Amino acid sequence: MDKDRSSQAPPHVLVFPIPLQGHINSMIKLSELLALAGFRITFLNSDHNHERLVKLTDMATHFARYPGFEFKTITDGLPPDHPRTGNWFMENYVEVIEPKTKQNLREILLNISPPVDCIIGDGFLGFVLDVGKDLGIPVICFRTSSPHGFWVYHSIPDIIQAGELPIKGSEDMDRLITTVPGMETYLRCRDLPSFCRAPDMEDPIVKLVFKETRRSTQANALILNTTEELDGPILSQIRTKCRNIYALGPIHAQLNTRLKAKHRDPHDHFSNTLWKEDESCISWLDQQSNRSVIYVSFGSITTMSRDKLVEVWYGLVNSKAKFLLVVRPNFMTGEDSEGEDDVVRELLEKTKDRGYTVQWAPQEAVLNHPAVGGFLTHSGWNSTLESIVAGVPMICWPYFADQQVNSRAVSEVWKIGLDMKDVCDRKVVEKMVNKVMVDRKEEFAKSAAEMAKLINQSVNEGGSSCSNLDRLIEDIREMRL
Ligand code: UDX
Repeated sequence: MDKDRSSQAPPHVLVFPIPLQGHINSMIKLSELLALAGFRITFLNSDHNHERLVKLTDMATHFARYPGFEFKTITDGLPPDHPRTGNWFMENYVEVIEPKTKQNLREILLNISPPVDCIIGDGFLGFVLDVGKDLGIPVICFRTSSPHGFWVYHSIPDIIQAGELPIKGSEDMDRLITTVPGMETYLRCRDLPSFCRAPDMEDPIVKLVFKETRRSTQANALILNTTEELDGPILSQIRTKCRNIYALGPIHAQLNTRLKAKHRDPHDHFSNTLWKEDESCISWLDQQSNRSVIYVSFGSITTMSRDKLVEVWYGLVNSKAKFLLVVRPNFMTGEDSEGEDDVVRELLEKTKDRGYTVQWAPQEAVLNHPAVGGFLTHSGWNSTLESIVAGVPMICWPYFADQQVNSRAVSEVWKIGLDMKDVCDRKVVEKMVNKVMVDRKEEFAKSAAEMAKLINQSVNEGGSSCSNLDRLIEDIREMRL
């Protein structure tokens, strides 16, 4: 590739996320942080998501302020009318997504001008390493899921070899797993990634998860969306497999801090969401008293049966708190969109005086609203970090992937919430909501506020995440020279 350019030119980085909301969120924010440092960025989005973002957001205006910030698109290999919900990405990865995308990525990199100095690839897209190696471009992997999740995924072959997997039935779920270094005292079978519940460890998704995780440690370096203060012990374990780690998160907090330092309003951030944010919930929150509302949202991929949603809803209505509930379009399984609308309309009607329902919320603003005192969450890593930064205690009801271990860390390691894993019963929802919002309110509020203070310090000047971001910027500059 032609690298004969003026050394004055800024480094050109291609950023390539998996086409899922949780991955796009942190990778686009990292891209903006690098653009603030003067880098040229090409952000590679799937056609499908790009179209949605163009329709729903002010993307073009927002990024026009950064010279050299460009979007390019790539196919995800699936037909336009594919529902892309639930575990669609992993189910289609090997057969469709990898083969279609790999060739496309190669062509994009060969034709791009100026040439790319470094690729920041989603840590789940191991084939990016092959393409980078082939074209002589360094690749840094960004694992957007939690370090706890990463370390457990990496350890799966050892757990199997030790005979601690597969799980032998529901009575086996509370057994401690002893072969994940650093987690011996708190990791139970039920806290392993949901894929590990497969009866057979030859399951293709189990194999894919640990294969891609082990592969990402072969990259030039790993970026993780965390801080030393939050995940120090687990980061030390991961460093035994990959020496160069940039723990530079929480990325959304890092971006807000750097925008403020440039005298830019952090509220003027790009809202990269794939659904339209309903701002009316902020006006509703404005009318509620301090820390009286539990925010309830299950992220961008989770789906739920009508019965389960109704259980959650009864638990909320019977609790002593008010609630703000997000029911995303396509959230309910087994419903056509009309059926789904009916359920939501019915719930809305019945809950007018107790709560408020939207299809998609401006989550960061919601979590930072003084009326919000708790978060009933699926424990997606972005949601967990957003809650930690805002100092909001959590009730965790994990759905899949790293979420099972994230919820364990929230309750047992960081002690900033409760883990409701594997239960869906109105009585339990009511009890947990009352514990966090009423009975143990002060205790949880105090621990969440202390954690927020610590984590927010890490993105300020002199903090560990701030220094790690500066180191990443310098290291990429050196790749350019
Ligand atoms: C996925 C996985 O589920 C998660 O476990 C993994 O760690 C990352 O990728 P997702 O399920 O979408 O992500 O959850 P999460 O990581 O929490 O991301 C959801 C994002 O959507 C958050 O940044 C959140 O702020 C945003 N969101 C969610 C909204 O903006 N509005 C909403 O109403 C709900």
